[in-house]
Amino acid sequence: MLYKNIVRPILFRLTREDPEIAHEEAIRLLKFIGESKHVYRILKKYATVNDPRLSQRVFGLGFKNPVGLAAGFDKNAEALDGLEALGFGFIEAGTITPRYQEGNDRPRMFRLPKDKALINRMGFNNIGADNVVRSNLILRKNKESLLGISIGKSKATTFKNAADDYVDLLKKLYGFGDYFAINISSPNTAGLRALQHKNHLEKLLMALNREMTQLAEGCNSRFKPIIPKIDPDLNWTELDDILEVCVRQRMNGLIVANTTIRRSGLKTEIKETGGLSGEPLRERALEMVRYISRSTGGALPIIGVGGIFSAEDAYEMFKAGASLIQVFTGMIYEGPFIARNINRGLLEIFERRGIKHISEIRGPSSHKATKGRGGERDEDIRTCLVVRRPGCQPHY
Ligand SMILES: Cc1cc2nc3c(=O)[nH]c(=O)nc-3n(C[C@H](O)[C@H](O)[C@H](O)COP(=O)(O)O)c2cc1C
Repeated sequence: MLYKNIVRPILFRLTREDPEIAHEEAIRLLKFIGESKHVYRILKKYATVNDPRLSQRVFGLGFKNPVGLAAGFDKNAEALDGLEALGFGFIEAGTITPRYQEGNDRPRMFRLPKDKALINRMGFNNIGADNVVRSNLILRKNKESLLGISIGKSKATTFKNAADDYVDLLKKLYGFGDYFAINISSPNTAGLRALQHKNHLEKLLMALNREMTQLAEGCNSRFKPIIPKIDPDLNWTELDDILEVCVRQRMNGLIVANTTIRRSGLKTEIKETGGLSGEPLRERALEMVRYISRSTGGALPIIGVGGIFSAEDAYEMFKAGASLIQVFTGMIYEGPFIARNINRGLLEIFERRGIKHISEIRGPSSHKATKGRGGERDEDIRTCLVVRRPGCQPHY
C-alpha cells in the first residue's frame, strides 16, 4: 500500500524521463541493505515466508519457495545480498556477457503504466564476466537463496562464434551459479534469437553439455542445471523443434518466456522498439507453458515468467504446468515485497482449496520435474564442490 500509494507515484514522476534512474537507485539501496547486517536481518525476517508447502526440489535443487527474481534486474550480480532479504526463493543474475558492454543509448527503458508494462532495449549492458566475478560474486555473503546465472553472447561476437562465448562464460562462472540460464531470446541483441533455430541450438547445447561435463568432473562436482530461456514470439513449429532438441540434449528445464516484440492490444500509444514485458505478456507466457507442459509430459520443468503480479497470477502459471515462477515488471509495479505477497497469497489459496503442497497444483505430469539430470544425485549441491582447478571457485 505504502509503495503503490506513495513511493511509486513519486518515483515514477521523478524518473519520468529515464526510468533507468529509478532502477539504479533501487540497486544502490539494495546494495546498502546487503551490507548492513541489521537492516538485512529485519527485512529478511519480514519478507521471508517459510512454509514446507512451498518448498520443493526442481532440477535437483532445493527451492525454499517458488518465487524468483527474473534476469535483467541485477545484471552485474551486485545486489544479491540485498535481494535475498526480499524473500526470493531464487535470484537470476545477468545476463552476463564475456566482456564489458555499454548497451544501447539511453533512454532504453520505458514504463507503460496504463498497461502495467515496460518496454526495454537495454542491449546486455553489463561489466563483463571477469569483472562480475572479481567485484561481486566472490564477495557474496549470505547465499541463502539459490543463484541462477544468465549468460549471453557479446554484441561484438559473430553468430558463427556465439557458442564459444557461452562455453567461455560457463567456465568462468561455473563455481558461482546453482544453475545456468542460456539466454538465446533477448530481442535486443541482433541475431541472438536465431540461436533458437534447431540446428544452431543443437550445436550450442552440445557444446554446453560437453563443457559442463568437463567442469563437473574436474571439480569433482555434479552437473549443474542448464536451462535455456526462450522467446514468446516463436510459432508452434519452432517451439516443437526447440522442445525436441532440449529433450534430446537432456536440458534440465526451460525458462518461458523473455520479452515480446509484439505490441497488440496495448492501451498506450508508443513507438519505442525493444521487448515488452508485464501484463500484456501474461496470456502468451501461460499459453506457452501449458503447451510445453502437455507436449513434454513434464519432462522439462518450467520456470514461468511473464506478467506475474499476484498470487493468483502465480497460481495460474503453476496450473499451466510451471514448477517455479519469476517476476520482473511485477516488482516495479507492485513493489519490493512482491515475493512475500505472492508466497503468502499462495498459502491463502492453498487453505481455501485444500491444497497440501505446491506440487499438487501442476498435477501428475509434474512428477517427472524432479528427475532431470541435475536431480540424479540427490545430495545438496552445496556440499559437493571440491576445489581442484581454477574454474572451481570455492564459494560455498
Ligand atoms: C529492463 C529489463 C531488462 C531485462 N533484461 C534481461 C536480461 O538481461 N536477460 C534476460 O534473460 N531477460 C531479461 N529481461 C526479461 C525478464 O527476465 C522477463 O523474462 C520478462 O521481463 C518477462 O517477465 P515480467 O513480465 O515479469 O517482466 C529483462 C526485462 C526487463 C523489463
